[in-house]
Amino acid sequence: MRDVAVIGVGMTKFGELWDKSFRQLGIEAGIKAVTDAGIEGNEIDGMYIGNMSAGRFVGQEHIGPMIAEIIGLNNIPATRVESACASGGLAFRNAYMAVASGMHDMVVAAGAEKMTDVDGNEATATLATAADQEWEAFNGVTFPGLFAMIANRHMHEYGTTREQMAMVAVKNHENASKNPTAQFNRKITVDDVLNSAKVADPLRLLDCSPISDGAAAVILAPLEKAKELGLKNIIKVIGSGQATDSLALHGRTDITKSMATINAAEQAFRQAGIERKDINLAEVHDCFTINEIVGTEDIGFFKKGEGGKAVEEGRTKIDGDIPINTSGGLKGKGHPVGATGVAQIIEIVEQLRGKAGQRQVHGDVRYGLTQNVGGSGATGVVHIMEVL
Ligand code: COA
Repeated sequence: MRDVAVIGVGMTKFGELWDKSFRQLGIEAGIKAVTDAGIEGNEIDGMYIGNMSAGRFVGQEHIGPMIAEIIGLNNIPATRVESACASGGLAFRNAYMAVASGMHDMVVAAGAEKMTDVDGNEATATLATAADQEWEAFNGVTFPGLFAMIANRHMHEYGTTREQMAMVAVKNHENASKNPTAQFNRKITVDDVLNSAKVADPLRLLDCSPISDGAAAVILAPLEKAKELGLKNIIKVIGSGQATDSLALHGRTDITKSMATINAAEQAFRQAGIERKDINLAEVHDCFTINEIVGTEDIGFFKKGEGGKAVEEGRTKIDGDIPINTSGGLKGKGHPVGATGVAQIIEIVEQLRGKAGQRQVHGDVRYGLTQNVGGSGATGVVHIMEVL
């Protein structure tokens, strides 16, 4: 396998983007990434696009050739990748494998979703197609409902508190307030979270990631090519893992963990040859506040059951010993589902380049990790990057 580097990144602002079409979002992110890489578009010979449900959200399927065409890359192979909210992370993994194998030389990994063209009920029903249709969604369970079950069990098993989950949202809104691409730039308090509308007990409005529009794109190339281009602060992909767990919650022996994340993290760390303690920051899939706590435990940053305590102790803040979701996470930055996994990669690239502005992690920032989850934990994708 060849060594692979991320040589360019670009994304739109996330939010309710009434004035931009799905196409326009794709163009904006793609052109920014090509410009950032300082390459000509015709050097790109492959494309993977993460998207969960453009067919239902905007009535458009077959988006591979559509996105390739609009960013001027007509005729190259362009493949849509779908794995619910992990579609973007998996697009990145496929692009990584294409370059590492030698099949392609310069590949775009993009993600896009436009969710606000439908009303809230339709968005909720569309998202629920990523759960088990026969056993869960058909019977009325929504994603807030599934993660509420996980939260209740985690509280019961480990004593995780309502306040600790609220602190995840407070931290991520604080980080998002420093991120110009974030959907929410307002800070919130624990009381705001605890007094916000109940969505699915114990989760409240401010425990949930929002419904969002947005797109993100990165360009991958062989490490040798990155060196030839004379790039400074080259970002090398040093670990990539992917795994699955049962689609429905009832198929798991323990719903407070996702074997998909546990196994994907194990693969990524084994390939990278580094320890959990070496990671300087991580973007973790906080679609609901409880899932950041579960994710940090499943990756192995904290022992099972101790993720809530770690948040309370401030360990996951920007100035903590393992900053989590410096971008604002899905909660604060927004969650256009197909774009999220790629946007997580962009935050790590910007941090490793030392270009994250007000939210830059201080000190030696050498290794960053992303964890992207599909469904209620049925897909897990983990990547580790190093700045050279
Ligand atoms: N966090 C913070 N504020 C939010 C928010 C969120 N998640 N969702 C909506 N808001 C705000 C809106 O900006 C709006 O504010 P305004 O009145 O100042 O303009 C207000 O709350 C009402 O917005 P609305 O769109 O009517 O909310 P809603 O009740 O229709 O939707 C949720 C709220 C939580 C149900 C929706 O955001 C949701 O379904 N989130 C989960 C998405 C999901 O499941 N993703 C997949 C994860 S696996």
